Amino acid sequence: MQTKEIKINLNKSRSFKITVNDKYKGLLTNQVDFFNALDHLLVLKIDKKVQVGMLPSLNAERDSLLVKKFTYDASFHKYLRKMISSRAKHLWDISLVLKKNNISISEPVLFFDDFPNNISVFVSRFIDNSRNLGSIAKDDNSLLSKDMAESLILELVSFHHNGFVHNDLKWSNILINNDCKVIIIDLDNVKQYKHFNKTGIKKDLIRFYRFALEVDSIKWIEDYFFPLYLNKINIDFIDDMFVRDIRKCALQEWEKYGCRKL
Ligand SMILES: Nc1ncnc2c1ncn2[C@@H]1O[C@H](COP(=O)(O)OP(=O)(O)O)[C@@H](O)[C@H]1O
Ligand SMILES: [Mg+2]
Repeated sequence: MQTKEIKINLNKSRSFKITVNDKYKGLLTNQVDFFNALDHLLVLKIDKKVQVGMLPSLNAERDSLLVKKFTYDASFHKYLRKMISSRAKHLWDISLVLKKNNISISEPVLFFDDFPNNISVFVSRFIDNSRNLGSIAKDDNSLLSKDMAESLILELVSFHHNGFVHNDLKWSNILINNDCKVIIIDLDNVKQYKHFNKTGIKKDLIRFYRFALEVDSIKWIEDYFFPLYLNKINIDFIDDMFVRDIRKCALQEWEKYGCRKL
């Protein structure tokens, strides 16, 4: 993927560098329009520090975009992010690494840190005609299929084989499109290790199993997910014993915390 750094000069107090995927540099032809559009997102999710929004495509040639906007609320927080890389930069860097490893993620479009104005922004492609696994299961868990498990295993096994750990593998962070293709999202906590990281993989699978309890979908995970995962994963420490342990830990967490929104 070719990238470009472009200097942005919106006004005296807003000038910073933006890193953009070369394929999408046309978005910045009219910088003022683009930054206005960023202020008028279709909000999908909002909390104190992060806003997730969608920028609909303006014409048939352009993709819709998914925008993650991070805000810094205190100068210490801002300083820390400047020092240890912003969440937007982390999303950008890890997306590039994941793409290199052929993991199915949404294509990174651009990122920038506008520290004087307390924001960092990461933009990727919005996956049209998709839903997250959590919302599918919550609506009707009979929609969960063997095809979905196969498609998920394909991506997850390759993800874990390449040394990645997601660290927040809940069902709302897995998108499935109309063709049953899986796209792994919410990469904020993803890390890559040189070798398989047993603790990390275990944590991913416990979180994943824990959510199945939450949406009453144990049958799907036991009948399809684990048998397929065990069949495809090629790491010796992952065996029936390991899976029993995952089940036990997930159940313990479930009993301890109850119906906590994951
Ligand atoms: N690239 C994308 N395309 C389509 N929908 C997305 C995309 N990324 C996120 N979403 C939707 O927005 C929701 C929130 O995004 P996410 O990155 O998981 O944010 P958060 O860190 O707040 O959980 C997801 O559960 C998903 O439904
Ligand atoms: Mg999420």
